[in-house]
Amino acid sequence: MKQTKYWKVNINEQRINKQLTEAATLLLRGETVAFPTETVYGLGADATNEKAVKKIFQAKGRPQDNPLIAHVATKQQLVDIVDKYNEYVDKLIEAFSPGPITYILPSNGTCAANVTAGLSSIGVRIPDHPIALKILQIANIPVAAPSANLSGKPSPSKANHVWEDLQGKIAGLVDAGPTGVGVESTVIDCTGPIPVILRPGGISKSEIEAVIGPVQMDPSLHNDSEKPKAPGMKYTHYSPEVPLWLVDGPVDKLQQIVCEVREQGKRVGVLLQNKYLEQIEADAYFSLGENMSEVAMNLYEGLRHFKKENIDLIVCETFPEIGIGQAVMNRLRKAASKII
Ligand code: TXA
Ligand code: MG
Repeated sequence: MKQTKYWKVNINEQRINKQLTEAATLLLRGETVAFPTETVYGLGADATNEKAVKKIFQAKGRPQDNPLIAHVATKQQLVDIVDKYNEYVDKLIEAFSPGPITYILPSNGTCAANVTAGLSSIGVRIPDHPIALKILQIANIPVAAPSANLSGKPSPSKANHVWEDLQGKIAGLVDAGPTGVGVESTVIDCTGPIPVILRPGGISKSEIEAVIGPVQMDPSLHNDSEKPKAPGMKYTHYSPEVPLWLVDGPVDKLQQIVCEVREQGKRVGVLLQNKYLEQIEADAYFSLGENMSEVAMNLYEGLRHFKKENIDLIVCETFPEIGIGQAVMNRLRKAASKII
């Protein structure tokens, strides 16, 4: 066990420069530091230092064959770690970066081999969060950072999620409050002539298509028998500690299922948009908010919430797969033990 250094930061306070310099110094010394991005908290290490990157895999219990995303502060830093890429990538960077999108590009070998899990391509993104950008600027290195959760658990949208999972296993945690988007970045494979979305996320397919024309979705996103191209997409993911059922249908159907399970003596928690909460009788409730962007923001807190409530089953509604709803439904399907 190591002592995890904790900084509570506020962008309007003077001491932030000192705090973030300490965090960046730990990264430069080959240690792991968790920090907020606009999507979820990331667990960072110097992407050019193989030993440092190894510590990420150890702390998370992450499978070795699952590559990491390199985070950089500027387009120049992105260009510095990749080989020549397709023209449409410049348009995407112009339109969406900094922002919740990760480009899979040919690697030029600057980053350590364990960042890419031995692949010839590398995932790169410029996060749109003032704290992440400041740490990246001070450290002035590409920072490899997966979501800062234990492998398999829901991603962290708040610093206390990181603390719960990784305290004592990482060198530092920068706490700047809840993240904004709430679900991870869109991962888009840009190595071929037509880009392919490997993981839906903060930027939707239609937003991307408005800039560069038609893109494809990885077939595995709609068909379980296809092998996903992003190695991470094949693993069990986002699993709450309490089993989750995803129920597609009107509130009456949800209520009926909740009743049946409660009749067996089980305690049921419901994860629903605000407007449905009052219509349902259950043992515990968590509101996902008023609209789809709030649902995305509250999703991972919701998946973690019920373990404190002595609940046997979580029942959650489904959402239209439009915009951020694609990412939300992708995560919920992976988290669910049953879809009804
Ligand atoms: O929003 C995010 O992307 C967050 C924040 C911290 O930036 N990071 C994140 O990282 O979600 P992670 O490691 O949890 O997910 C990265 C995904 C995995 O599914 C991984 O397999 C895929 O990206 N990936 C990374 N490099 C790849 C590559 N070269 N080829 C294909 N897939 C890749
Ligand atoms: Mg993750």
